[in-house]
Amino acid sequence: MVSYMKWAALILATAQLGYAQTYTSCNPTKSNILQPEVQPKTCPADTGLDKWEYNIDFTVGSSAFAKWNTTAGTVESTSLGAKFTISEEGDAPTIESEFYIFFGHIDVKLRAANGTGIISTYILESDDLDEIDWEQISTYDTEIQTNYFGKGNTTTYNRATTVTVSDPEITFHTYSVDWTSSRIEWLLDGEVVRTVEYADALSGKNFPQTPMRIRIGIWAGGDPDNSEGTIEWAGGETDYTDGPFTMYVESINITNYTPAQHYKYTDKTGAYTSIKSYNSTVSNSTSSSSMSSSSSIARIVSSSAAGATTSAASAASASASAAAYSGASALTYSSLFMASVVAFIVGALQM
Ligand SMILES: *[C@@H]1O[C@H](CO)[C@@H](O)[C@H](O)[C@H]1NC(C)=O
Ligand SMILES: *[C@@H]1O[C@H](CO)[C@@H](O)[C@H](O)[C@H]1NC(C)=O
Ligand SMILES: *[C@@H]1O[C@H](CO)[C@@H](O)[C@H](O)[C@H]1NC(C)=O
Ligand SMILES: *[C@@H]1O[C@H](CO)[C@@H](O)[C@H](O)[C@H]1NC(C)=O
Ligand SMILES: *[C@@H]1O[C@H](CO)[C@@H](O)[C@H](O)[C@H]1NC(C)=O
Ligand SMILES: *[C@@H]1O[C@H](CO)[C@@H](O)[C@H](O)[C@H]1NC(C)=O
Repeated sequence: MVSYMKWAALILATAQLGYAQTYTSCNPTKSNILQPEVQPKTCPADTGLDKWEYNIDFTVGSSAFAKWNTTAGTVESTSLGAKFTISEEGDAPTIESEFYIFFGHIDVKLRAANGTGIISTYILESDDLDEIDWEQISTYDTEIQTNYFGKGNTTTYNRATTVTVSDPEITFHTYSVDWTSSRIEWLLDGEVVRTVEYADALSGKNFPQTPMRIRIGIWAGGDPDNSEGTIEWAGGETDYTDGPFTMYVESINITNYTPAQHYKYTDKTGAYTSIKSYNSTVSNSTSSSSMSSSSSIARIVSSSAAGATTSAASAASASASAAAYSGASALTYSSLFMASVVAFIVGALQM
């Protein structure tokens, strides 16, 4: 069975639509769009980061990527950190964490790429398309944007803010998110630059509140094949002869406020109160990027056997049900269309 993501990546690359950072392979709150009349498949449980703190130093070599998947292109460890390079049209190197966190604090120390229309970004995203973003548009040398989405709701794009930052393409800065059930803070070098309270986000309806994984990558918003709107947002067309364009991510420090082995949606509300954590970690444990098994962690072993059976099998089938692209400002109608094409092809393959 060819994985959904490989197909999505292949077809999107072929169509030169640029970037597919915003997606879910199984949305626990949605019906299967291929067979809306039947019940959706059960989505796999999310693998949790089962420790309080996890620090990754991307200068140490390939071991730093132990808990990360490269979903597009190649990303390697260098003395400056993980190196994400765009050399030509279609390049969009991206990594994502294999684990999810359920509220937490993320520090990412990075140096954004140069060039016109190149987007250096990290986002937190959940299976039902809650999303928290930092996005640096290289066209604008003294700015970075923050944004968020709830449940893939892209009715409006009026939530982005612009934060002033000095020389983001020359200097490493630490861009952080502190996320709880009551508010989100974005921090630049340790200072809060934006706060969104739960109630601010459409009385909580658009408030990101489900387990998230972390995606980091760069892409060409200014690719000549992108929609006019995307190119405009990216500050103009990318000239690949100015490249290569490189972002470096030196380190990432993560605190998971709800360390657990798995998270599971218990209904279709997408509310944080509906998320059940399995095998929660009760004592604190810290670890660096080496994969040492954390022996000191005490666990509450969930009394129910539910959840244990759900993950692997349905993960493989990656139902393609919700190929939704919430796509921040980079959303294009063509990518929505392509998402349907991808979903259709994957559906056909599964028959
Ligand atoms: C990571 O990638 C591997 C290989 O492509 C895949 O088998 C695995 O399911 C991925 N893990 C996650 C958590 O997406
Ligand atoms: C993570 O923590 C280490 C050790 O305290 C520190 O050297 C590094 O700068 C931190 N990284 C970030 C992104 O905050
Ligand atoms: C961006 O360009 C500046 C000025 O040429 C240079 O100092 C810096 O190293 C470049 N940054 C990257 C990530 O290539
Ligand atoms: C989506 O957000 C818009 C405002 O941005 C709001 O009017 C609408 O009700 C939201 N939709 C849902 C399903 O929450
Ligand atoms: C872990 O330690 C932090 C302080 O470092 C504390 O705020 C937090 O409540 C602890 N969490 C757990 C699960 O013990
Ligand atoms: C919880 O931990 C037990 C014992 O290690 C394991 O057998 C079970 O699969 C775990 N359940 C989940 C949902 O992670």
